[in-house]
Amino acid sequence: MKSIVLLISLLAVIPCAQAQQTDLIANTDGRKTISLDGEWRTIIDPYETGYYDYRYQPSADGYFKDAKPKTKSDLIEYDFDTSESLKVPGDWNTQQERLLFYEGTIWYKKAFDYQRKENTRLFVYFGAANYIADVYLNGEKLGRHEGGFTPFNFEITKLVRDTGNSLIVKVDNKRRRDAVPTLITDWWNYGGLTRQVKLVETPATFVQDYFIQLQKGSRERISGWVKLNGSKLDQKVTVRIPEARISKSFTTDANGSAQITFDAALTLWSPDNPKLYEVVIEAETDQVQDEIGFRTIETRGTEILLNGRPIFLRGVCIHEEAPFRGGRAYSREDALTLLTWAKELGVNFVRLAHYPHNEFMLREADRLGIMVWSEIPVYWTILWENSATLENAQNQLTEMIARDKNRAAIIIWSMANETPVGDARLSFLKKLVEHARSLDPGRLISAAMERHYIDDKTEMIDDPLGEYLDVLGCNEYVGWYDGLPEKADRLEWKTKYQKPLIMSEFGGSALYGNHGDALTRWTEEYQEEIYKHQLAALRKVPFLRGIAPWVLKDFRSPHRQLPGIQDGYNRKGLVSETGVRKKAFFVLQQFYRETAAQNTVGNK
Ligand code: GCU
Repeated sequence: MKSIVLLISLLAVIPCAQAQQTDLIANTDGRKTISLDGEWRTIIDPYETGYYDYRYQPSADGYFKDAKPKTKSDLIEYDFDTSESLKVPGDWNTQQERLLFYEGTIWYKKAFDYQRKENTRLFVYFGAANYIADVYLNGEKLGRHEGGFTPFNFEITKLVRDTGNSLIVKVDNKRRRDAVPTLITDWWNYGGLTRQVKLVETPATFVQDYFIQLQKGSRERISGWVKLNGSKLDQKVTVRIPEARISKSFTTDANGSAQITFDAALTLWSPDNPKLYEVVIEAETDQVQDEIGFRTIETRGTEILLNGRPIFLRGVCIHEEAPFRGGRAYSREDALTLLTWAKELGVNFVRLAHYPHNEFMLREADRLGIMVWSEIPVYWTILWENSATLENAQNQLTEMIARDKNRAAIIIWSMANETPVGDARLSFLKKLVEHARSLDPGRLISAAMERHYIDDKTEMIDDPLGEYLDVLGCNEYVGWYDGLPEKADRLEWKTKYQKPLIMSEFGGSALYGNHGDALTRWTEEYQEEIYKHQLAALRKVPFLRGIAPWVLKDFRSPHRQLPGIQDGYNRKGLVSETGVRKKAFFVLQQFYRETAAQNTVGNK
């Protein structure tokens, strides 16, 4: 008897028929989906009682079993269905006062019915879950995902029932030294199912993924690929761009992949004319529709060329925090509000810091004609020599590129932010650069690096990482962490690289409505002064091809403790957390008006 019990418990721990975390399904918008958003039942589980037994061993009867007492004598010490609920999508920190600082595990349950039709498959898709998500359906483990800002999906075709499905997700946002990001960030560690959750229904063999963009350096040759998933992998697939009367057919190989190339005379996407085309990918068993823009982006010496013409990137940095209500932004409205504020500044570029933002941000940037720098959270001091940390960073890079590779707005993939110069760090980041280039040879690669003084009035950008980047990114805080605002006037910027520079951060803090003279910190006048001196100085940097001041909006940070001023907010925003413009907003707006008119800053 004892051995049978042991065997059963062992079998329970070893996930059977574990559904593999399938490759990401591209463009769920263009498919049949059922939203699972709304109220989810939750159990706050700081001791992970629902996962480990009292010996800290994974329990076979964890909360994922969603068990109910069968008899009056049965002992079950949890019940999702009488537990409180939280909204999905949404971080848990801003939904309940007591969860603001909560870092740990919360279990989520969603019950749903689903009548699966013949010859169809079903997947559950998560826009993101911060930080580690263990996902179960009807008591079976589907898999685990690590990384708080990229999507993932699991196939549930064989596990789904017609009625009474119990989808359970253990979300744990505990920070770890070996994680990405690591223990310390200057942003709030919002936990939960922070983006949409949906069921995605597909035919037995479906168009799982595709990459359709202009070939590097060509303004008329389209090149890319289409990938099928299923049993009937050798099919005819047709790529159609109806508005341009284009219809090109290809045949997939035994793995369901087809390389596609064809010439097309298309209107190119640009901030002045963010032209998107309806693109239809049609296979014999499936069809997907998308809105795609076509543009080229490259560098030539210190120039950045969009569609072959030099550009200057008038940018601003943005954290993925919702305007007005705070917490993680997740909706189209959130994206539109943030990007509209940025547009009012006069931007043609945004740096989405320091992690991949939700898909609405990228699709709205596509529509609004705003070029994008997208980044993975390799932030400050990561465990460079830890192979699991590298694999994790590479995986987040893979998922970021997989989701957004067809967005014309994205011109730059950024590998890291403010990471300390060193051999282990360089080899770590070189591997990420190579990985990004292997997945997407068409976009520019950058990173936000640091600089150093070679004398008291010369700043040098010679981080060895610069060798491997297409565009140099540099963060500097002259006038805030480094001297007073007027110091910027006396500085000269140098680099050992013949490459374009984006000043990826500069700025200073001010509490909206706090006024004083231009040398009084925390006042709008001090912040305004920083911008006046910075912008005047940056005009003189010959290889500067873009700026992205830190930051569009005040945002929550556990680092910022000054009572009456910061109160848990980083106050470097050009607008307050409620969207009210500070004086510096108008200094930058004026600068961008002038710059847009001239389309030059540096050398001309
Ligand atoms: C850093 C960092 C940001 C941070 C900012 C600041 O440069 O990249 O994440 O918020 O400085 O100190 O405000």
